[in-house]
Amino acid sequence: MASNDATALSFEDMQQGDISLLCGDSLEMLAGLENASADLILTDPPYNLGLFMKKRGTNIGKLRANHFAAASWDLLGFEEWSQKMDMFFAQAARILKKRGAILMFMSIIKMETVKHLAEKHGFYYKTIGIWHKTNPMPRNMNLHFVNSTESWIYLVNGATTGTFNNNGKIIHDFYETAAVRGVERKFGSHPTQKPLAMMEHFVALLSNEGDLVVDPFMGSGSTGVACKKLGRRFVGIDVSPEYCNIAKRRISE
Ligand SMILES: C[S@@+](CC[C@H](N)C(=O)[O-])C[C@H]1O[C@@H](n2cnc3c(N)ncnc32)[C@H](O)[C@@H]1O
Repeated sequence: MASNDATALSFEDMQQGDISLLCGDSLEMLAGLENASADLILTDPPYNLGLFMKKRGTNIGKLRANHFAAASWDLLGFEEWSQKMDMFFAQAARILKKRGAILMFMSIIKMETVKHLAEKHGFYYKTIGIWHKTNPMPRNMNLHFVNSTESWIYLVNGATTGTFNNNGKIIHDFYETAAVRGVERKFGSHPTQKPLAMMEHFVALLSNEGDLVVDPFMGSGSTGVACKKLGRRFVGIDVSPEYCNIAKRRISE
């Protein structure tokens, strides 16, 4: 099982063809990327639900196979989290090309704040959409609605439209899939790993071959695996050496 102990494992930054993996704090690492160099940021930051869950008496550590949250953005107070998000959007606006896009997963209760901060940095709000998990854990199913969805927001940098490869098809603001398949965890488990099929869907739709895609919270590297498969360049960042190592193994396969 993965641990969050940064001393437990080390990770040497990896450069392999068009793929770079960097281990460290995303804000510091993004500062090292060039202005107007990226076409898409496809990312899944911590949802900052640690304090919210704690106030409700829910042990988030028990909810997840592994509690990586303690060293991340998950346990910050609202003000501190908003400041980090603000700094994130400042860097994102700088490294993205004009018409470059962000697709970011986030808790639905945080979306209004995320939209507001993104607009402050010149992003054009396009869509908030839903990922529906067809096989959720039926926790407390006799007490309330079973949690089976996560949300994402789609934004374009400094323009009203960006790359949208729908090839004449209607693309719903809704993606449905089962949670991650076992084979996608063969190099190690990440508690909030996203299914590869969904990441491929977004990479194919929102970028073109040869484009540079950045994931500053890559976890087990699902975005990077999709980028390698679809011929995109990729920069992935995570603060946890253990998750960077899982990403490296998955992407190098
Ligand atoms: C929700 S998970 C991403 C999971 C990923 N989508 C996947 O499929 O595996 C968020 C990740 O952000 C990382 N993280 C938290 N704080 C960070 C920071 N300041 N800089 C970089 N990564 C960070 C965590 O280690 C965690 O792996």
